[in-house]
Amino acid sequence: MKTLYLATHNRHKKEEIQNIFQNHPILSEHFRIEGLDALDFHEEIPETADTLEGNALQKAQYIHQKFNVDCFADDTGLEVPSIGNRPGVFSARYANMPDCFEENGFVSEESLQMPDPTFDQNIDRLLFKLQNKPRQARFRSVICLILNEEAYYFEGSVNGTILPERQGGQGFGYDPIFQPDGFDKSFAELSLDEKNAISHRGKAVEALISFLEKQ
Ligand code: IMP
Repeated sequence: MKTLYLATHNRHKKEEIQNIFQNHPILSEHFRIEGLDALDFHEEIPETADTLEGNALQKAQYIHQKFNVDCFADDTGLEVPSIGNRPGVFSARYANMPDCFEENGFVSEESLQMPDPTFDQNIDRLLFKLQNKPRQARFRSVICLILNEEAYYFEGSVNGTILPERQGGQGFGYDPIFQPDGFDKSFAELSLDEKNAISHRGKAVEALISFLEKQ
């Protein structure tokens, strides 16, 4: 039995990922997934790269080097083509970005140092920026797994539309304003199982699980 540590403090991500692993009982005979609380690690994990792949690697590598364990990390962005695929890799700190961010992509050191805004502040900024703009969007997740000193990447994405106002009370982050294509509900109106079946993270975790099943 091998233990894989999930390099995140985000309890929503943890819940989603653990739920998917629980639906694969054969895998759980060979791999046990643990959170960072099992390592008694509660500090922030640095996340300063400018791509999802870079951030996922940075987070996984940080935990791997600190504790010498096999682990994986997820990095996710909401990409909206009408504003240059923003907020993208800056989704967690979007409300901290300067006014001209969508046009020139400029990110100051200062905005990277600020504490993350709330989910509501990030949503408010996106709704403001999308008045009169096309609202097609895509969630994209990249997982980096470090197993036996090698890094492996897995990706998942889902297309949808940014709603004009919040709908629903489940989930986290931008879920209340993201309506996946083919649904008339936001992510925040879906159950955990329903969201996982179609979501960016659900697909990336399924790709990770297929890989682990072959090990
Ligand atoms: P992270 O950098 O991967 O932790 O995530 C960046 C930000 O994207 C988070 O702060 C959330 O606001 C948002 N986010 C990540 N995953 C999801 C999701 O599944 N639904 C809605 N928002 C998400």
